[in-house]
Amino acid sequence: MKKIKFIILSAGVILLSACTKKDPNSPGFEYMPDMYRAVGLEYYHAIEVDGDTIWGAQLPPKNTIARGYKPYPYPNTPEGYELAGQNLKNPLENSEENIKKGEELYTKYCIHCHGASGQGDGKVAGKLPGPPPPYTSAAILNLPEGKMFHSITYGKGLMGSHNFLSVNERWALILYIHKLQGKDKTETKQDSTASKLTAKK
Ligand code: HEC
Repeated sequence: MKKIKFIILSAGVILLSACTKKDPNSPGFEYMPDMYRAVGLEYYHAIEVDGDTIWGAQLPPKNTIARGYKPYPYPNTPEGYELAGQNLKNPLENSEENIKKGEELYTKYCIHCHGASGQGDGKVAGKLPGPPPPYTSAAILNLPEGKMFHSITYGKGLMGSHNFLSVNERWALILYIHKLQGKDKTETKQDSTASKLTAKK
């Protein structure tokens, strides 16, 4: 009985002494410290492995592609431009919703050069050596949508690449350009004169 009393008493003393520690930042006795401190890699921290320093965040292996990303098959060449013009078709429905999405993106990324109505008269356009052609000019009116997509993807002349926009975002922009041109998506199917016009560029 005495023994049990002694054990209870000493346990109480130990517990109490844990509370009376002077350093307020000390966690005191840690039961199973692994539960508080992960043994795995910490993000953005360097760790030593066999004498080498490895960073928690590393570059992905070569040829890694983001989930859902579809590689764009047409190279940034005149031939790639032609092929894109022949083969690429807008997968999006010409719906109010998609056009609205295109308009939002246009206001963010294109309006300062191409202008609110697509006449190539945005605020930045005047500063460019050559302003963007109006969307209603013959060349752009007759431009196949695949070529538009190609130019938005890689950039063209003074226009930079916009491939940071998703594929669908780029197509939504094209729907909105068609709206600015005052034509329906179905009217953009190309005739041979149109291809000849743009092929010269
Ligand atoms: C820095 C100004 C600038 C910005 C920003 C810009 N463009 Fe352009 N864009 C131009 C110029 C300049 C051209 C004419 C390029 C040429 O033919 O040399 C052009 C051409 C185009 C063409 C015709 C491409 C072709 O193949 O002839 C399309 C379509 C187009 N832009 C769409 C867009 C869209 C959509 C955006 C926004 C995502 C955008 N642009 C943003 C300056 C700009």
